[in-house]
Formats: sequence, structure tokens, C-alpha cells
Amino acid sequence: MVNVIGLGYIGLPTALMMASHGVEVVGTDYNKEIVATLNAGQTTFEENGLDDLFDAALEAGIKFSTEYQVTDTYIVSVPTPYDKFSKKVDACHVVAAVENVMEVCPKGATVVIESTISPGIIDKYVRPVIEDNGFHIGEDINLVHAPERIIPGNMVYELLHNNRTIGADNHEIGEKVKTLYASFCQGEIVLTDIRTAEMTKVVENTFRAVNIAFANELAKICRHDNMDVYEIIRICNMHPRVNILQPGPGVGGHCISVDPWFLVGDYPSLAKVIDESMKTNDGMPDFVLNRIYEIMKEKGLTDISRVGLYGLTYKENVDDMRESPTLQLLESQERHLATGLKVYDPFIKKDVVKNQYHDLDSFLGDVNMVVVMVKHNEIKENMAKLTDKVVLDCHNIIDLPGVCYI
Ligand SMILES: NC(=O)c1ccc[n+]([C@@H]2O[C@H](COP(=O)([O-])OP(=O)(O)OC[C@H]3O[C@@H](n4cnc5c(N)ncnc54)[C@H](O)[C@@H]3O)[C@@H](O)[C@H]2O)c1
Repeated sequence: MVNVIGLGYIGLPTALMMASHGVEVVGTDYNKEIVATLNAGQTTFEENGLDDLFDAALEAGIKFSTEYQVTDTYIVSVPTPYDKFSKKVDACHVVAAVENVMEVCPKGATVVIESTISPGIIDKYVRPVIEDNGFHIGEDINLVHAPERIIPGNMVYELLHNNRTIGADNHEIGEKVKTLYASFCQGEIVLTDIRTAEMTKVVENTFRAVNIAFANELAKICRHDNMDVYEIIRICNMHPRVNILQPGPGVGGHCISVDPWFLVGDYPSLAKVIDESMKTNDGMPDFVLNRIYEIMKEKGLTDISRVGLYGLTYKENVDDMRESPTLQLLESQERHLATGLKVYDPFIKKDVVKNQYHDLDSFLGDVNMVVVMVKHNEIKENMAKLTDKVVLDCHNIIDLPGVCYI
């Protein structure tokens, strides 16, 4: 039986996927509300295909509990934020979860860390917890790192099809855990050592962050001298060895806006490009705020409360708002003692910020300028409703005359 610890964006789909592919699974979360909701037959967040997967897993007998289980395999998928000051990964949730596993696990159990961690974290924090509990790693307890790569919005598909990495101390345990993941994963599963697995996950997200920062920096350069960044990127990408990403209003979510900081924290004198890239991306919401004021001036608009931000989530067609550029922009606005921007997101049903709307038409009825912060399908489908608005399109998706860009 597999006990999945942490039933958030990663743990829940993983637990459901395994259960629906014949693995006996109990999902554990210390958040009673999450467990109660799941036990009441409801999922806890919106995600393509998640409800069907949930039904299949229930049918297959998955259980949810706030208790850690006595079993032979644990998968830990708890959060790994970073310390805003040191930039290093904060492994406290992983350590706490492994401590709890040690209280119940029998000898011979395998502990798989799925949470994203920086290279060396397992050596520095996880091995000591296991050894301090009187277990010998490799004899009494097996330790594995199996980082996750799936993207919100396409998680179910990617769980099935992405290639995966498994880092283990020895080949036999690696193969055993590979077989477990192969119960559902149709991608290639690469076996390596733990430290390499830790590093690959952080490097993958860092690659994305640095490339996004390059596009954002181009947008700033082009804005400075009134050049069309989208046309320039389009032409450059016709070169056979150039593939520039698109600029945007910033980077959010729990991966690309967080994980690269781990390398800056651990290697401050070496990770220079990464450091600057993260600062560039983090500066984009402020850049957009400045663009709002610039455009208002150009168009003779004076009332900030008639400007609306479309989108609160960190990416399109999901309900995840963590570290979202819109939240960063609103914080920045408050720091400058200015408030009043209106906000709407079709995926956010609860009130989470000031001046928030819950329906597109009322939102559009109260603003004369719209800033497209997130490219949800809804706004693409309702583009015609923006014809009488000043539009700042941060994603180059609105095909209307007179649209302004970052
Ligand atoms: N969200 C993503 O897109 C994504 C993608 C790849 C990797 N990751 C990584 O996966 C890990 C989990 O991320 P997430 O987005 O699922 O986080 P999350 O915040 O959505 O979920 C984590 C869950 O763990 C629970 N939890 C925390 N500590 C616990 C403990 N000691 N015992 C039991 N439950 C506990 C929380 O209540 C929460 O429900 C992180 O390391 C993250 O970086 C996330």
C-alpha cells in the first residue's frame, strides 16, 4: 500500500492516478478540511480531468485520512517554499512529514520525496531525521527522490505521458519505485542518484525562468525604443537555432517563480544569470503598473478605479493564484499607496482582493481600460466586448485595433 503525504496540487492527482491504476493508496493530509472534502466525494481544486480521475480512484477504493499509515511505501509531496531572505529552500514541511513517517513506518519501508528540493537537501536534512530515529538508510529504510514535472491545467495528461526522473541510493530500490510509477506513467523513467535527481528538477525550472526573463528583457528594451517585440521575436524564431519565448506580466506559481531561487541561495557567487533573471521576472508586475499609468496619460484617462485587471491566477484556465503577477501588481500598488484597480477572474469564485468582480459583464461595465493579465479562454472568446475599451494586452492575444502592449 502507498501512503501519499500531502494532498495538494501534486499529491492528490498522483494518489488518484496510482489508485485508478490498481495501486492500493491512502492519501494523508494534516488539513482536516481537505480530507473531509475528499471523503465527502468532492475534489479540492479545479483541474482538467481531475473529477473523472477522482471517480475512478474512488471506485478503485482510495481512502483519505489525516493519519499517517503503517505501510511499506510513502510518497511525500508537501510544499517547499523558499526563505525570502536567504533564498534557500525551506525544507521544514518535508522534514516534518518525514519525522511523522518515522513514527509509524515499519523497517524495510521506502520513503519517496516528490517535493521539489535543491541539491543536497536530502543529505543535509532528510537522512539525519531518519538516522536520528534509529533507522539505517539502505538497510531499514530506503530513500528515493522522484521529482514531479506536471503543469497545472494539463496535470492528468502529463502525469500519464511525461518522462520522469527517479533518484535512488541503489539500483534495486530505484527499479522497485520505477515499477510503481510505471503502473500509470507511459513516459520514459530515468534512474539516477538522489543528488542528480534533486539538481535536474531545479535546473529544469531554472531553464524556463531564465528564458522567460530573456523575453521580458527584450520587451523592456523594445518598449524603451518603440520597437515591436512580438514581430522581432517572430522573425528571430524563424532562425533554425533560435526559439525565444513570449514576454508576459510576470511569473507566478509554485515552480518557476520559486525553485530557481534555491540555486541563487545555495550558490550566490555563481548563480549570477539566474539571480538577474529572477529579478527581471519579479520586476514585471511593476513594469506593467508603470505601463498602466503611461497609457492612461496617453489616452487622457484619469480615474484608476475605471481600470480593470483581467485575471488573478498565475496562468490561464486554472484556479491557482499562488505568487500570481496580478497579486504582485496589487501589492505593489498598495505599497505606492494607490488603490482602486478593479479585478476579475472567472476561475476565482471567492472574494480574495478588494474591488473584485464575479462576472465579466459587470466588470466590463465598470471600467474603461482593461489590462489582460491572464490569457484565460474566456477573454479570447469575448474579445468583441473589449471594442470600446482601452486595452493593455500583456500576452498579445487580443486581436483588435488600437490594443496597447507591455
Ligand atoms: N503545483 C505545481 O505545479 C508543482 C509542480 C511540480 C512540483 N511541485 C512541487 O510539489 C510539492 C508540493 O506542491 P503542491 O503544489 O502540491 O503544494 P500544495 O500546497 O498544493 O499541497 C501541499 C499539501 O501538503 C499538506 N501538508 C503540508 N505539510 C504536511 C505534513 N507534514 N503532513 C501532511 N500533509 C501536509 C498541505 O496541507 C497541502 O494540502 C512542492 O515541493 C512543489 O514545489 C509543484
